[in-house]
Amino acid sequence: MKVVVAKSAGFCFGVKRAVDSVYEQIENNDNDKKIYTYGPIIHNEEVVKDLEKRGVSVINSIDELKKVKNGIIIIRSHGTTKETYDIIEDNGLTLVDATCPFVKKIHKIVQDEKDKEKHIIIIGNSAHPEVQGIRGWSGNDTTVIGNEEEAERFELKENKQVCIVSQTTFNYKKFKYLVEIITKKGYDISVLDTICNATHERQAEAKKIAAEVDEMIVIGGKHSSNTQKLYEICKNECNHTYYIQTLDDLDLSNFKEDSYVGITAGASTPNNIIEEVHTNVRIKF
Ligand code: F3S
Repeated sequence: MKVVVAKSAGFCFGVKRAVDSVYEQIENNDNDKKIYTYGPIIHNEEVVKDLEKRGVSVINSIDELKKVKNGIIIIRSHGTTKETYDIIEDNGLTLVDATCPFVKKIHKIVQDEKDKEKHIIIIGNSAHPEVQGIRGWSGNDTTVIGNEEEAERFELKENKQVCIVSQTTFNYKKFKYLVEIITKKGYDISVLDTICNATHERQAEAKKIAAEVDEMIVIGGKHSSNTQKLYEICKNECNHTYYIQTLDDLDLSNFKEDSYVGITAGASTPNNIIEEVHTNVRIKF
């Protein structure tokens, strides 16, 4: 059996930085302050459980955050709204901002463009925390567009310029397609492709590998949108694509001795999980 692991599998720069910052806080917490992350630090249950064991709690909503009057709050790589920063400051909490710099850049863009009175379009999934965070900086005159229907339906209420940005983990092809639909409406549009290269590279490499192998394994959290997209891309290329969270979910009974197997993983998948799957696939045959 031949096994290939994608070079771009696993933590991207932003997620690694955010996870490392939590472990750093645990290590350097001399004053024994309570440590919180605003939302799970990444979409990976294993990592979140490990952090819980080390005393890190997850705050799940603005209302929960408002009640916290003491401690360290870590903002995850997805970033968050301006309102969240205001509450942290008002409550006298210690802020550790692990927002990925690429997401921060989008916050800055939409804030600047909003100040120029532009209508902001975010191409992305409206339920995703990153998009909700960006929305929190772009003002009320914002539309989130996630699919063809929403793009077709989009109509500018006032005669304004439009600025389009994207969720960092959005599928590049789909982004281009949705922008094309909106552009046809004839508005004065500026498009800023804010899709992160890490995602693009991971998707392109996964597609290439999936097209060549017999079985493709995609590792990542159930709720990780970038892993779900990775799975979609691989499934399109390789019918035998398996979506697993950990080694426990992997059923190797369908694999043949002479199979060519590909492995990739979403941005929130720790290296040790990828390694474990890789090792087990190799030793099985
Ligand atoms: Fe940042 Fe790109 Fe990762 S935006 S969090 S480096 S996918």
